[in-house]
Amino acid sequence: MVVIDAGGSLVPPGRSLALVEGSRELEQRRIKARLIAGAWKLGGIDAVAVGADDWALGRDFVLELAAEEELPVLAANLTCDGERPLPGSRVVEVGGRRVGLVGITTGEVDGCTVEPPVDAVRAAVASLGQVDVVIGLAPEKRAEAVAELGEVGIDLLFDARGKHTTDLPDQMGDAWAFGSGTRGKHLGLLEVAFDPAADRFAPSGVADVERERLERIQQRLQSLESRVAQEKDPRRRTRWQNQVSAYEDQLVDARSRVAAAEAGDAVVKHGLSNTEVALSRDVENEPRVEEQVQAALEAIIKMEGGNAQFAVEPHVGPHESPWAGSDSCVACHKQQHLQWSSTSHAHAWQTLVNEKRHMDRDCFSCHATGVGKPGGPKEPKDVLGLRDVQCEACHGAAKSHIARPDLVKPLRDPGIEVCRDCHDGEQDGGRFDFETYRPKIVHGRASE
Ligand code: HEC
Ligand code: HEC
Ligand code: HEC
Ligand code: HEC
Repeated sequence: MVVIDAGGSLVPPGRSLALVEGSRELEQRRIKARLIAGAWKLGGIDAVAVGADDWALGRDFVLELAAEEELPVLAANLTCDGERPLPGSRVVEVGGRRVGLVGITTGEVDGCTVEPPVDAVRAAVASLGQVDVVIGLAPEKRAEAVAELGEVGIDLLFDARGKHTTDLPDQMGDAWAFGSGTRGKHLGLLEVAFDPAADRFAPSGVADVERERLERIQQRLQSLESRVAQEKDPRRRTRWQNQVSAYEDQLVDARSRVAAAEAGDAVVKHGLSNTEVALSRDVENEPRVEEQVQAALEAIIKMEGGNAQFAVEPHVGPHESPWAGSDSCVACHKQQHLQWSSTSHAHAWQTLVNEKRHMDRDCFSCHATGVGKPGGPKEPKDVLGLRDVQCEACHGAAKSHIARPDLVKPLRDPGIEVCRDCHDGEQDGGRFDFETYRPKIVHGRASE
C-alpha cells in the first residue's frame, strides 16, 4: 500500500484567512497541524503535498514541521533563495513495484517562487527513472489547472477538487484524475490491478455503471409509455409524448455509452477501482495517536485560557451587550423555556465539553449563541453565559425586548435560513430536514 495526502489537510480550504502571526487562531492551527503531522509519521505516509491554505501556517513553520516529523513533502515547483527546499519526487517500492511520486505546491509562499507546474513536473517525472506507475499530487481546486498535468507523464493524479473519492475518475490527457472529497471524513482507497500485457491504466467496471444508468432510463421510458397509452386528454397526451421522445434520445446515448464502456472494459489494461472508507466513530483510534489527540486538545484549552470543566460562573458578558441570555426570558416565557430545556439545544455546549472541544475554534460557533453576530462572542473564552443554542440563537439579540416587551419584538417565527446558519449540511452530517426538525423545537400547544 502507498499512503498519500494531496494537500489542504493541515489547514482546511477556506480557513486560512484569519491566520495572522501572533493570533490564537494561528496558534490553534499550528497545534492541529503538529498533531496531523505526528499522526502521519506514526502511521507511515509516502508522500504529502501542501497547498495555498497550508502555507498560511507560515513558510518556516511548514518547512520545520516537514523536517522534524520527517514528512515526505513533495514540491517540484517551489524555489526559495535559489534552491529547492523540498524534493519534487521520490520512488517507493511496494509489492515488487516501483512507484514514482511527484508533488507540486500552490499559492504564495513567503520569499519563494511557486512556478507554473508543467515544466517542473515534466522534469521531476524524468528524474524518476524506470517506474511501474507515476502518481501525482496536486493541491489544486481548479479542473483546468489539473488538466495540464495530464500531459506530462503522470498516470494517476490526485487533486483537491471536492469531487467524491468514489466517483469515476476524469480522463485528463494520459492521466486519470481523482478528487479527494471534503473535510477528511473519508479515506479514498484506489486498487491498481497490474496486468503484465497492459500498456495503459483505465478504470475497471465502468460498463456496470453505464448498464445501470441504461436500465434506469429504460424503466422511466416504459412507465411514460404506459401513461401515454392511458391518457384521454389529447393536450396532456402530446406533452407525455414529447417526454417520451426526449427519453428515447437519452436511450440512444446511453446505449452507445454502454458499448464504449464494454469496449473499454475488454481492453488489456492495468485496472483501477476506487472505493472509500468512512472515518466514522466506528473506526477505532490507534492508541498512540489517541494519546497525541488528547495532548493536543488539552494544549488548545490551555492556550485559549479556558477551563477544562468550564467551572467559571457563567454571566452574560459586558453590560452594554445586546444579548440577554435564556435565564432572563424565563420569568415571562415559562412554557417556552421549559420546552426549550428539553431539547438538545440546551446542552449543546456540554456536548463539546464532553469531547474537550469547547475551546476549539472549529467547533464553538454553532454550539453557542450569537457567535460572530454584533455584540456576540468572538472567541471561545468570551462565550460565558451564551453557551448552548439559546433562545436568542433563533430569535435574535433580545435585551432591548426585555426592557420594553410591548415596543420591541424579537423575530417571532425564525425560518429555515436561521437554522441553516448551524445546520449547514456539512458539519451536521447532512441530517437536517426542516419539516421533521422544526416540530421538535417549537414550544408547544400555542404553536402547533
Ligand atoms: C418582562 C417580560 C418579558 C421578558 C423578560 C421577555 N419577554 Fe418576550 N415577550 C413579552 C411579552 C409581553 C410578549 C408578547 C407581546 C405581544 O403579545 O405582542 C413577548 C413576546 C415575545 C416573542 C414573540 C414576538 C411576537 O412578535 O409575537 C418572542 C419571540 C419573545 N418574546 C422572546 C423573548 C426572549 C428570547 C426573551 C429573553 C431574551 C424574552 N422574550 C424575554 C415579555 C417578555
Ligand atoms: C446556533 C446554532 C443553531 C441554530 C441557529 C439552530 N440549531 Fe438546531 N442544533 C444545533 C446544535 C449544535 C445541535 C446539537 C446539540 C447537541 O446535541 O449537542 C442542534 C440540534 C438540533 C435538533 C436535535 C437533533 C437530534 O435529533 O438530536 C433539532 C431538532 C434542531 N437542532 C432543530 C433546529 C431548527 C428547526 C432550527 C431553526 C429554527 C435550529 N435547530 C437552529 C445548533 C443550532
Ligand atoms: C456549522 C455549525 C457547527 C459546527 C462548526 C460544529 N457543529 Fe457540532 N453540531 C452541529 C449541529 C447542527 C448538530 C446537530 C446535528 C443533528 O443531529 O442533526 C451538531 C451535533 C454535534 C454532536 C452530537 C451529534 C454527533 O454528530 O455526534 C457533536 C458531538 C458535535 N456536534 C461536536 C462538534 C465538534 C467536535 C465540532 C468541531 C470539530 C463541531 N461540533 C462543530 C453544528 C455544528
Ligand atoms: C431552535 C430555534 C428556537 C429556539 C432556540 C427558541 N425558539 Fe422560540 N420559537 C421558535 C420558532 C420556530 C417559533 C415559532 C413557532 C410557531 O409559530 O409555531 C418560536 C416561537 C416563540 C414565541 C412565540 C410564541 C410561541 O410559543 O409560539 C416565543 C415567546 C418564544 N419562541 C420564546 C422563546 C424563548 C423564551 C426561548 C428560549 C427559552 C426560545 N423561544 C427558544 C424557535 C426557537
